[in-house]
Amino acid sequence: MDPDETAARLGVAVEDVDRVRRLAGDLPSAPLPAKADAPAILDRLGVRPDDAAEITAGWPDPDSPLWTPELRWLLDRSVALVRADLGGHGWLPPGPALPRDRGPAWRHLYAYAYLALVDVVRAYHRDHGVADAVSWTTLADLGRNLAIDRRMHGEGWPVMQSWLTLHARGAVYELGRLQHHRGDGAIDLHIPESGPLTPEAVTASLDEARAFFPRHFPEERFTAFACGSWLLDPQLREYLPEDSNIIRFQRRFELEPYEEPEGLDADVEVLRFTFRTLTTPLDRLPRRTALHRAVLDHLTAGRHWQWRRGRFPI
Ligand SMILES: CC(C)(COP(=O)(O)OP(=O)(O)OC[C@H]1O[C@@H](n2cnc3c(N)ncnc32)[C@H](O)[C@@H]1OP(=O)(O)O)[C@@H](O)C(=O)NCCC(=O)NCCS
Repeated sequence: MDPDETAARLGVAVEDVDRVRRLAGDLPSAPLPAKADAPAILDRLGVRPDDAAEITAGWPDPDSPLWTPELRWLLDRSVALVRADLGGHGWLPPGPALPRDRGPAWRHLYAYAYLALVDVVRAYHRDHGVADAVSWTTLADLGRNLAIDRRMHGEGWPVMQSWLTLHARGAVYELGRLQHHRGDGAIDLHIPESGPLTPEAVTASLDEARAFFPRHFPEERFTAFACGSWLLDPQLREYLPEDSNIIRFQRRFELEPYEEPEGLDADVEVLRFTFRTLTTPLDRLPRRTALHRAVLDHLTAGRHWQWRRGRFPI
């Protein structure tokens, strides 16, 4: 394959194609599940009917005209690239962001890669004695993310395609209210959009993790729970009541000193998680909740949100 030509046909930079080639090399890929099994698997992965219909329609059958040789190459090598890091827990883009408006193969290429990795990561989970129910609940973040991306008109996907490789490599486990991410010496907490963040649900999830990790990853040692999020910005206390779930969540953490994170704009992240849009002008956004109003008043006053990291001992 010619990298320049492949990049041009995929509508991406040649460096992106080179990266995939370098990381995936000739390493083994993995096949997709049989198309006949797709509806049941998509259902277990929490994929909503509208997304499932698109994914089924664009299925990479060997004779599908939707799949050009370049797309097939990228799917195959993307699976190999993620698979090669099975058990890893770093942020890992599975490949370049694609022009997704070109059709279902383009739109869902990394969802197909995820589907190919389901069996791979399930075997990894089994090796670690992780229960089936935890496996499926964890992997069903695919459906949640596809649905949010649909609400975001595709704006959410470039981040989600990397985020979901954590699930596909056995790095993230959804235990009750929170997602727990094996990190270096700490369990990183992620908060899915799945209803209120009540203190009771958080405590129960932390307790579950305290039992889960020593049992299933006895060779890894975690001494703290950690989190990096807009939710830990202390400025939120100027706007939200002390008994709100977000402020009560904040109180668990000891904050690290503020450092501007590289490559991350906290204002954009706050818009992502509170309005599920990155591009709507502020004066067209709703003011329905206390947080909506806080975010908008803060930004229109010319102030900025912070992405903060914090931790507390296990
Ligand atoms: C984290 C989350 C569950 C907290 O919601 P919660 O439990 O309702 O939080 P609080 O009790 O502190 O809410 C305080 C106020 O803010 C509102 N609010 C909270 N999160 C909101 C959100 N994401 N969008 C809009 N309004 C929100 C609440 O409705 C409430 O306002 P009200 O009294 O006018 O109804 C919620 O923000 C969420 O689902 N976020 C998306 C996922 C996310 O941000 N993850 C972290 C990524 S780094």
